[in-house]
Amino acid sequence: MQTMIKIPEITEAVAIWRAGGLVAFPTETVYGLGADASNEVAIRRIFAAKGRPHDHPLIVHVANVRQLQDWARDVPAEAYLLANLFWPGPLTLILKKQPHVLDLVTGGQETVGIRIPNHPIALALLEAFNGGIVAPSANQFTHISPTTAQAVHEELGDKVDLIIDGGACDVGLESTILDMTGPVPRILRPGMITAEAITAALGSVVSVTRKEVPGIRAPGMHHLHYAPTTKTILLHSAQLPAYLKMINQRVAVVTYSQMTLPINTFITHIQMPTTPIQYAHDLYRVLRELDHQQFHQIIIEAVPETSEWAAIRDRLFRASGSV
Ligand code: TXA
Ligand code: MG
Repeated sequence: MQTMIKIPEITEAVAIWRAGGLVAFPTETVYGLGADASNEVAIRRIFAAKGRPHDHPLIVHVANVRQLQDWARDVPAEAYLLANLFWPGPLTLILKKQPHVLDLVTGGQETVGIRIPNHPIALALLEAFNGGIVAPSANQFTHISPTTAQAVHEELGDKVDLIIDGGACDVGLESTILDMTGPVPRILRPGMITAEAITAALGSVVSVTRKEVPGIRAPGMHHLHYAPTTKTILLHSAQLPAYLKMINQRVAVVTYSQMTLPINTFITHIQMPTTPIQYAHDLYRVLRELDHQQFHQIIIEAVPETSEWAAIRDRLFRASGSV
């Protein structure tokens, strides 16, 4: 992706952050709503703008691996290995926090989430700021994350001091969250860096959280997190034909397999890309567009059970309230 970095915007964003304001900016995953990670007042504005409960911790974004130790302590060698391999990139590491890290960042826990985003604008901003920026996805709590600047406008409007437009996000789904503080690394939120890729890098197995684990504030565990407002249901390919026969109101049908659907004035068919990387890139944009069109339902074809589709499967479950 070719992105022109406009220096005046970088300077303006850094000035806003230093003054305790909010700047929405592109990352490779989704757009983030950024504030100075050391400024409690600024961070309170994030929670207010998103309508997000205070016990949902935030990810600290930094520009280089050296800054890990500014926020985390007792960082295990495996964490450095993963950081060196996958950063900048869509992987968040949960580590033991340094004592100064604010409760508002960690949700009062002893751990902190950190990542280096892989986007030229995000990196330029973080380098210029020269500190940690907390950045949740730039959407209202429980809504779908924004993957374009336009979507950030829709979600946050004038609740943010500046929105930097970096075009559509490359990855399109939120980062993989990996908890490195237990005996075995554990994936709290699947992303496009898969359990298999992490296992291969570490040479040992990682565990994957499926259900809410008591004591761990895993992300998106709320019913209908990452959800459109239109009723959304998930069906297996084999269930679709019979279901669609009964349709008598306008619905959108989102498929990944190249299946033929019954021709019917009620049915709008959206054929998604057949590969997980492209599918992930398009998913939130498509759901957002469909959500504007007053369909009775959005019907989504379930995707394969393989590891490369795991993050997409997870978000589809959440969009349809199936978890
Ligand atoms: O790709 C991403 O991660 C995007 C971009 C902007 O970087 N950010 C993002 O932030 O998705 P957010 O706040 O929407 O989701 C981060 C999730 C939260 O739901 C939170 O529960 C989890 O990360 N999290 C943060 N710190 C944590 C911690 N110390 N322990 C467990 N979960 C944590
Ligand atoms: Mg979010």
